[in-house]
Amino acid sequence: MDGVTDLPYRHIYKKYGNPAVMYTEFASVEGLCRGAAQLLKDFLYDETQRPIVAQIYGTTPKFFRQMATVLCELGFDGVDINMGCPAKNVAHSGAGAALIKTPDLAQEIVRETKAGVEDWLQGIAVSDLPDITTEIAKIVQTRHDALPQAYQEKRAIPVSVKTRVGYDKPVISDWIPRLLELAPACIALHGRTLRQQYSGLADWERIGEAVELASGTNTLMLGNGDVDSLATAHERITTYKLDGVLIGRASFGNPYIFKEAVSVDDPSLFSIAIEHAQLFEDTYQQNDHYAFLPMRKNLGWYVRSIPNAKEVRAELFQANSGEQVRTILTRYGLV
Ligand SMILES: Cc1cc2nc3c(=O)[nH]c(=O)nc-3n(C[C@H](O)[C@H](O)[C@H](O)COP(=O)(O)O)c2cc1C
Repeated sequence: MDGVTDLPYRHIYKKYGNPAVMYTEFASVEGLCRGAAQLLKDFLYDETQRPIVAQIYGTTPKFFRQMATVLCELGFDGVDINMGCPAKNVAHSGAGAALIKTPDLAQEIVRETKAGVEDWLQGIAVSDLPDITTEIAKIVQTRHDALPQAYQEKRAIPVSVKTRVGYDKPVISDWIPRLLELAPACIALHGRTLRQQYSGLADWERIGEAVELASGTNTLMLGNGDVDSLATAHERITTYKLDGVLIGRASFGNPYIFKEAVSVDDPSLFSIAIEHAQLFEDTYQQNDHYAFLPMRKNLGWYVRSIPNAKEVRAELFQANSGEQVRTILTRYGLV
């Protein structure tokens, strides 16, 4: 999730919740293939986070192909194509959920992404790619060289798609077969249209229809939208015969949502908040333009269920370091 699932977030969520798979924030293939090296920060991860899938978005098939090769070189366990984002700056350019309206282009993008994985298996190097700058190729090479040996080896990583049930109305019976023709490893389906953005409720009956369409294929089907607990997740998986579900917003401030049973010996959400804040600082403080700001929303989420949340949050929103977060939470007797 853009602005949320950065390296520290994923590290903390894997450690305390252990979800089966996590995705990076999405990054633009056009941006990366036009030299925006700073976007590579979205593709930082650590070895604890596997299986880790990199998500990309855009409209230019040849850039998807090159980025797939780059992501293989970076050691990811999968490449996911975003065909679900409703944000204006994404969808107005024809990317994200707008691809539901241009299924030929969507198919071309899946085809080219798979071809990029194949290129890598055939020995194409990042430095051979026409639209990858020398600066980006160097960063990718350095990260590749730091990977454990097993992840430097050539492996055919899966290509998947994350999408919605439609653009302005559900179009499952047209849209899903077009994706299935390209045999993606997985389709994750959010049960809302682009027009709905995040309003109303996800339509799980449409998700169920998509599962029927995919039955007998090798494409895994994941449902998504409003899953608010592990119990709901299990219920949705059984009812709609899914291979799994994705949990998004309900995870904010609660890595334990992914955990079957939480014991009294498990650290409290407040001590996790301190660890998260410290990790955020340690991960990014060397970067140019470092700011603690993006961490603060997480802090607000961690304390949202306490009675004096408003007061504590107001203080946390002034914090600039892990140590300051510790001081505030200690003063309120939360740790
Ligand atoms: C802040 C925010 C950022 C998101 N960023 C992405 C993204 O980068 N890629 C993506 O596929 N979905 C993104 N989503 C959509 C979620 O993955 C998910 O489909 C949606 O929130 C519905 O699931 P939920 O009800 O479990 O949150 C984002 C959602 C939110 C709230």
